[in-house]
Amino acid sequence: MNKFKRKLMNLGLKYVKPRIHDKKVQHIIKDYNLPDPLIFQNGEKVIDKKQWIEKRRAEILHLFKENVYGKIPTEAVETNYNIINEDKKALNGFATRKAIKITFRRGRRQIDAKLQIYVPNNVDRPVPAFVGLPNWWLGYKRSLWPFKHVIQRGYALATARFGDFDPNSDNFKNGVHPLFYKEGQTRPLENEWGTIGAWSWGLIELMNYFESDSDIDQNRIAVLGHSRMGKAALWAGVNDERFSIVISNNSGCCGAALFRRKIGETIKMINECFPHWLCFNFKKYNNREFNLPVDQHILIALVAPRPVYIASGQDDIWADPIGEFLSAKHADPVYKLLGTTGLGTDKMPKINEPIMSTIGYHIRQGGHKLSLYDWHRYMDFADLYL
Ligand code: GCU
Repeated sequence: MNKFKRKLMNLGLKYVKPRIHDKKVQHIIKDYNLPDPLIFQNGEKVIDKKQWIEKRRAEILHLFKENVYGKIPTEAVETNYNIINEDKKALNGFATRKAIKITFRRGRRQIDAKLQIYVPNNVDRPVPAFVGLPNWWLGYKRSLWPFKHVIQRGYALATARFGDFDPNSDNFKNGVHPLFYKEGQTRPLENEWGTIGAWSWGLIELMNYFESDSDIDQNRIAVLGHSRMGKAALWAGVNDERFSIVISNNSGCCGAALFRRKIGETIKMINECFPHWLCFNFKKYNNREFNLPVDQHILIALVAPRPVYIASGQDDIWADPIGEFLSAKHADPVYKLLGTTGLGTDKMPKINEPIMSTIGYHIRQGGHKLSLYDWHRYMDFADLYL
């Protein structure tokens, strides 16, 4: 029995395999009653671009903070950057590799994070970059960060360890959370950030670092994540509009997939298996997806008008590939309102036939992983938009 089926069984749930491109599954899609990104909470319609930018976007962002991910603190931290290692002839001389220790301090508390950057040599600097937190516990083949390929295509690649920001434990003691606790506080409040928020905070802090690094073009940064880090990359990209492109690979529940489909991982499952990932308020929506004032197509819409790329694996049913595609599709009206090409289609493409519109999407052969195929599509996308 695979991990996914076992998880469901432990939760007392039955596994029903959805088939990609299955007519029945496609049909159910029509009945989701998704919240409309272009209708305000009071029922009024968003009539133009200005209203979206000035009012509706903020309203939705607030709903996601209060109900799903929790608020990321915006209070400043004291940061120090120390280059601890630099090799100008890395990767057979094709790149410069830098290791930077970042120290974050607030009051008496401090944490350190290590950032590693490969910058291509023999190209004009500053260079555009991809940034992310690799899921290295998955093993090389399932979470590939192909430095050489990225360098060859003229991009820098910056990675940090997710555990430096939050080690993924449910006690909120060993990562960044304690830096922001008020006197006597020991865990986040109901509407404050969980672990995914902490990883997103880390990505945003890396963006702050780029502003001080003359090798990196901070106006051309793509944030990328796979699976749980794909959820964090989306949330970081939504909170910080300095990221020029946002890429979410096989991110599933609380990433790109629609909650209301309830196929693969559901709100209850994620809250029970990973109670520390989202905010405590999110638990109110266990088995009550239809009460949630938002769904993930609206999260994707918050990236607009910046290019966003969502990708699925054909056999990655736990992440619900159709649900991931539908989020892209239903974000389209906002992208259109803001004057972009949006997704450019309403049909799910065939396997390995990427869509490269302002909303990018592909469904690749195979299961849950970040592969070289995915990377090359993301770099094609970055070639177009960065
Ligand atoms: C689990 C979890 C997913 C997550 C994945 C991963 O399967 O249920 O939500 O995306 O781990 O990060 O690999």
